[in-house]
Amino acid sequence: MSIHIGAQKGDVAETILLPGDPLRAKWIAETFFENPVCFNNVRGMLGYTGMYQGKRVSVMGTGMGVPSISIYAHELITQFGVKNLIRVGSAGSYQEHIKIRDVVLAMAASSNSGINTLRFGGADYAPTASFELFQKAVDAAKNKNIAIKAGNVFTSDEFYTDDFESYKKWSKFGVLCVEMETAGLYTVAAKHNVNALTICTISDSLVTGEKTTSKERETTFKDMINIALELA
Ligand code: ADE
Repeated sequence: MSIHIGAQKGDVAETILLPGDPLRAKWIAETFFENPVCFNNVRGMLGYTGMYQGKRVSVMGTGMGVPSISIYAHELITQFGVKNLIRVGSAGSYQEHIKIRDVVLAMAASSNSGINTLRFGGADYAPTASFELFQKAVDAAKNKNIAIKAGNVFTSDEFYTDDFESYKKWSKFGVLCVEMETAGLYTVAAKHNVNALTICTISDSLVTGEKTTSKERETTFKDMINIALELA
């Protein structure tokens, strides 16, 4: 086992879905997998491995924010041999044309997180999605008739901000939406030469103030999971 994951080598599949919420991981395993087996409960960060359409696949919660997902991604890659890491999460829209319930693929992630400023001594690094996973996700969405949008997202260290207008700066430069993990995930994956992709569902809009209901979130979440599982 690693410091934060109580699994044995071989317990985790090469492809893993990563929701922020561990109970969402349990729901994904129980709803979509055949014979799901729980491999982690350290800190309640539930992780499962099962079969989906004849392919072995895992799912595990990451918690919220860059430090949390960076720790889990690092251990999954270096201790358990994970090769494809697919974040499935929610995001807040920064654009008029990005509506609640839309599915967004994160091609790259801008960020206010200090983690890469530390790592690269103040220089910028552009955390980028795996082209292979991105292309597969586009194809899967097309085959399933699920509309998608794609572009730059903003990975924020803040959920509750004091500066309600600050999103407009990112919006002007074409950033589609805000979430809290992708820049960390893409950087750790790049460091270890493995694949990562974030698929988001828009749960709220900073432009209009709209929010999805929990029932709506469940339905739209299914579209996102259906795309993600095709990447296994
Ligand atoms: N995830 C979903 N909505 C968000 C928001 N408004 N800010 C940060 N992360 C989010």
